[in-house]
Amino acid sequence: LRATDPVHRDERGVWHLFRHADVSAALADAATFSSETSAFLPAAAEGDAFRVANLTRMDPPRHRAMRGLVSTAFTPRLVSGLAPRISALTSELLDALAEASRLELVDALTYPLPVIVISELLGVPTEDRGTFRDWVDVLLSLNVDRDNLAASQQAVRSVAPTRAALIDYLRGQVDRRRVDPGEDLISALLAAEADGARLTEGEIVGLAATLLIAGHITTTGLLGNAMLLFDQHPEVVARLRDNRELLPSAIEEVLRVRPPFSLTMRATTREVELGGRTLPANQLVFLWLLSANRDETVFAEPDRFDLDRRNSHQLAFGRGIHFCLGAPLARLEARIALDLLLDRYAEFRVATDEPVEFYNPLVVNGPKRLPL
Ligand code: HEM
Repeated sequence: LRATDPVHRDERGVWHLFRHADVSAALADAATFSSETSAFLPAAAEGDAFRVANLTRMDPPRHRAMRGLVSTAFTPRLVSGLAPRISALTSELLDALAEASRLELVDALTYPLPVIVISELLGVPTEDRGTFRDWVDVLLSLNVDRDNLAASQQAVRSVAPTRAALIDYLRGQVDRRRVDPGEDLISALLAAEADGARLTEGEIVGLAATLLIAGHITTTGLLGNAMLLFDQHPEVVARLRDNRELLPSAIEEVLRVRPPFSLTMRATTREVELGGRTLPANQLVFLWLLSANRDETVFAEPDRFDLDRRNSHQLAFGRGIHFCLGAPLARLEARIALDLLLDRYAEFRVATDEPVEFYNPLVVNGPKRLPL
């Protein structure tokens, strides 16, 4: 489709952008391609804070204000300061495996590491991570029907109790921080609220939910995808073993070839010309990051994993005003975790006698079970 029908309208009337130039242009034009796509999705429960304050689904000027507040709390300095903690945590998780010659990497590392890091940042108890995992499994299953919008009303109803449980839980955490503030993001957001009533409790809960979910499962995907690609490319692993300075390039190439988010969505606010077609106003548009990252007009031999590629324009973290707020954290976690895996194991191979399982790739493109 990228070659033959790059701006494609499917039988349900949803538009799909496949070329790097078109995806990139849409991401960069928030006035024409709105992130407020809720009109196309089944209505969520009344008072659903996750819906009310989902940063990724907001437009300016509200988006600018909210993102500004989160960025004040979630600074590059804060993130780089986390390096020793991320190393210690990775070591602890790997120590627990002792001399095991077989392991399931999602349980062992790729799920717990990012969820513990984001929980500590937010200031929510890390012991509750098993519950978060159960919730995430349910919430991600909702989007199985994202492709089939008509049928998804039922799906939304079926996950409503899980959404409510997550929101209630985070509301409790926000209340706890109100009386007992700490050095965490929820406390920082509460301070911003106190500072002139700029954030409501619903907004803080919504932001915390976005950070908690967006802040871990994607990194789980990135780490698992890295191991899958390393397994297919022993020559890359050999070079990384000799030169760890190449790890950031390897991580960018993993993100390009297997982006944890296959797509994101926008809604047109006006009629717009793109790739020789006219999209009317009020259309739902899928922006295929996965396809853009394999566009042969931008990346030569796009299916090849190439450590020496210049791929700074890969779109795994999006582009423009919604560019991933957690990109520095995700890159840091990946760098530390992969570095330690290379230190600990002289060789690792994906098991061939047990299946690798995946999350729904329309939601999170990455392994849910990865036996090594
Ligand atoms: C936004 C990908 C990790 C927090 C985004 C967007 C993408 C993305 C594609 C833009 C969505 C859009 O434009 O519609 C990823 C990937 C990650 C990752 C691939 C891991 C490899 C994280 C982490 C955090 C985080 C670790 C938080 C700690 C956010 C937030 C936004 C966002 C808050 C919304 C920003 C805004 O709307 O202004 N992410 N993300 N992400 N991400 Fe990430």
